[in-house]
Amino acid sequence: MTLEPVRAEIAARLHEARERTFELIAPLSDDDLHRQHDPLMSPIIWDLGHIAHFEELWLVRNLEGPVEFGEMPGVYNPFEHPRKVRGKLQLPSLDECREIMDEIRARVLRRLADVDFGDGNELLRDGYVYNMDLQHEYQHNETILQTLQLKQGMPYRARRRYAPPGPANGRRGDMVRFPGSRVVVGTEDRRAAYDNERPAHEREVAPFSIRVITTTNAEYLEFMRDGGYETRALWSDAGWNWLQEARVDSPKYWMRDGNDWCTRTMDRVESVQSDLPVCHVGYHEAEAFARFAGKRLPTELEWEAAARWDPSTNSTRDSVPSPANANIDQLSFGTAPIGSYPDNWSPLGCYGMIGDVWEWTSSDFLPYPGYKTFPYAEYSEVFFGSEYKVLRGASWATRSGVARSTFRNWDYPIRRQIFSGIRCARDD
Ligand SMILES: [Fe+2]
Repeated sequence: MTLEPVRAEIAARLHEARERTFELIAPLSDDDLHRQHDPLMSPIIWDLGHIAHFEELWLVRNLEGPVEFGEMPGVYNPFEHPRKVRGKLQLPSLDECREIMDEIRARVLRRLADVDFGDGNELLRDGYVYNMDLQHEYQHNETILQTLQLKQGMPYRARRRYAPPGPANGRRGDMVRFPGSRVVVGTEDRRAAYDNERPAHEREVAPFSIRVITTTNAEYLEFMRDGGYETRALWSDAGWNWLQEARVDSPKYWMRDGNDWCTRTMDRVESVQSDLPVCHVGYHEAEAFARFAGKRLPTELEWEAAARWDPSTNSTRDSVPSPANANIDQLSFGTAPIGSYPDNWSPLGCYGMIGDVWEWTSSDFLPYPGYKTFPYAEYSEVFFGSEYKVLRGASWATRSGVARSTFRNWDYPIRRQIFSGIRCARDD
C-alpha cells in the first residue's frame, strides 16, 4: 500500500472524530459548556481544549524531537488541575476554543502531509500515534457523555438518536462453562492497542462458569427488594463502609415511583425496563449483587477468555465490533434490551460482551508480565495498583475505535457515573 491513501484515511478519521465531538456538544449553551456540573467531571469546554492540546503535543510537537512529556503543561494538564477544580480555571469561550482547535488541526494536517511513516520513529510505525490521538478523543467523548448525563439545568437532548435493531433474539440460557485451558490474553497489535493490552501472553485459566448475559434491571430489582442494600453479609468491608457514607439504595439515576422505580437517561425518564442491562452500579454494588446471586465477579482473565476463546479451535477469535453488531458508538443514547443484536455472541456463547455496559471484574489494574510503557507513563503506568478495578467490554457510549475485547478500562470501585454493569461468574 502506498502512503497516500493512509494519509487520506487518517485525515478523514481525524475529521470524523471532531465532527462527532461537535455533534455531541451542539445542543449545549455556553453556560452548559463552562459549568462544573459535578465535582467528578470537567467543564466540557475543558475537555475540548484538552483534546486539542493533546493533539498538538502528540501529532506536532512530540513528532519533531524527543518526547518531552506525555501531557501538555498548563491549563489542560489533567495532573496539574484535578477535575473538581477545573471549573475555576480561566477557560475560553466556545468560539475561542474552536479557533484554537481549528488552528491546531491545521498544523496537524500540514505535519501529516510530509510525515515519513518509515523513518524508524516508533510513534509513527503503523500510524500508531494517530490512532492513539483518535482514541484519546473517542475516550473523552465518553467522558463528555457521562457529564451530559450528570448535567445540571435542562436535561441533555441529543441531536439525533437511533433505536437498537431489536426485537430481542431468543437464544438465552443461564451460564456457559469454560472447561479450563491455556488461553492467549492481550495482544501484539502495534497499530492501535494501548501499552497496557500488551504483550500477548498465555495464561492457564481454571474451569469456571459465566453468565450468558449481563445482570438485568429485573434481576437487580430482586436484589433491592430482597433487602440487598441492607444485608451486611452481602457486602465487603470496603463496600459496606462506602454504603454507610453514600447512603444509596438503587443504581445511580434510579428514582422511586410509588412502589416502582423509574430511571433517567439524558432527557428520557421511564419506568425501569426489566430486560435492559442494569447500568450505573459501582464495583461494591456489583460484588454485593454477585454474592446475592450465589456467584462472584469474573477476573479480567476469565472475562477475556469468555469474550475471545473459541472452544472449537482452542484459540482466540476476535470479531470487529461495530454499531451494526453491538450497542456501541453513542448514538443509541442508552442501553438496549438484551438480545437486540443477533450477532453479538462470543465464541464461547456469551451475549453482549462488547457494548451496552462496561462490566466490572474482580481484578486490580496491573501490568501484564512483560509490560513496557509506550509511549508515555501517564496513560497506564501511573494508575497501576490496587486502587482501581478493571472494567471490560465497552458501553453504548464507547466509540467503535476503542471497543475491543483486549481493551482494559479501570476506575475506582465507588464510581457510578460511568456506564457500568455486572456479569456474574462462578467457580466450576
Ligand atoms: Fe485526556
